[in-house]
Amino acid sequence: MSEPREIKWFRAAPLGSIPEKEGRRVQYGEHAAALFNLGREYLAVDNQCPHKGGPLADGIVAGKNVFCPLHNWKINLESGCALSGGEGQVKVYPVKIIDDFICIAFEEGGLGKENSAGPCQEKCDERL
Ligand code: FES
Repeated sequence: MSEPREIKWFRAAPLGSIPEKEGRRVQYGEHAAALFNLGREYLAVDNQCPHKGGPLADGIVAGKNVFCPLHNWKINLESGCALSGGEGQVKVYPVKIIDDFICIAFEEGGLGKENSAGPCQEKCDERL
């Protein structure tokens, strides 16, 4: 049985610093996440597109999805699943507000959290 991995909350950005429907790159050690302001909530995923590593934080936000700025794959920000363009999945990170900061949870070691949403086949029923 594996040891439970420790989760660390990381101050990613001051509350109010990311305009609505925009993303920001957040660096944690050698790892980068993309943090998005969706208006009523913040969501975070790995910043590397599952296609060829495009910077998802620079993509166009539509609903709870982001379109990669390089080749326009559509990535769901809740599941991390690619909904169009091809097949793939990025890690998703828990986000919460702590003391006026938007905080992201990373596992100790900086490699991020495994997808809590589960495999894409089970979570991407809303594929268009
Ligand atoms: S690198 Fe993102 S769609 Fe190609």
